Amino acid sequence: MTCKLLVLISGNGSNLQALIDACASGQLNADIVGVISNVPDAFGLERAKRVGIPTAVVDHKTYASRADFDAALLQRMQQFDADLVVLAGFMRILSAELVAAYAGRMLNIHPSLLPLYPGLHTHQRALDAGDAEHGCTIHFVTADLDGGPLIAQSRCPVLADDTAQTLASRVHPLEHALYQQVIAWYAAGRLRYANGQAVLDQHPLEQPVQL
Ligand code: GRF
Repeated sequence: MTCKLLVLISGNGSNLQALIDACASGQLNADIVGVISNVPDAFGLERAKRVGIPTAVVDHKTYASRADFDAALLQRMQQFDADLVVLAGFMRILSAELVAAYAGRMLNIHPSLLPLYPGLHTHQRALDAGDAEHGCTIHFVTADLDGGPLIAQSRCPVLADDTAQTLASRVHPLEHALYQQVIAWYAAGRLRYANGQAVLDQHPLEQPVQL
């Protein structure tokens, strides 16, 4: 059975595009059943619409409280009846209740080598720290911001003349390839979440897989 993906975005959606392309080419045996954005003019919505993927907007600015927004988002998410929720540049913190509804069925990509630099401005923080390496991480989503069990990472060197922008543009293609691989594991039933850990091919991952 084809794995049904629901992708949540807030912006450009280059990770979404990579997944659309991978599904279309058959490289990834999965189906994107919907895209939800909390930002009404997110370009990623256009990317979905032009290939006929159903989209929805749940605009956080139109809700009085975080709890109201999360309740509306959860309701909309459930309508898509997805197997796996993929956060791809989704810039809202989700409540514990929403996360619990998708325990073990929600992934996030973060542009740093977690546990380094949870939160924002990761590229600048890696530069400021003088790191020799930087990269991206995919993890299962838990109520801890960018803190759920790590699954896989890709890394790249930090060069002497890097800016946050050049570093981001080196990390982005790594993100695209990494997400495709990790979702392929999930879709094939090789990756799951058990007892607070990521489990790949029956082995709990003590360290994220390096790709
Ligand atoms: C990516 O760097 C992702 O890791 C971060 O937000 C960015 C989204 O980029 N969470 P895009 O919208 O997929 O182009």
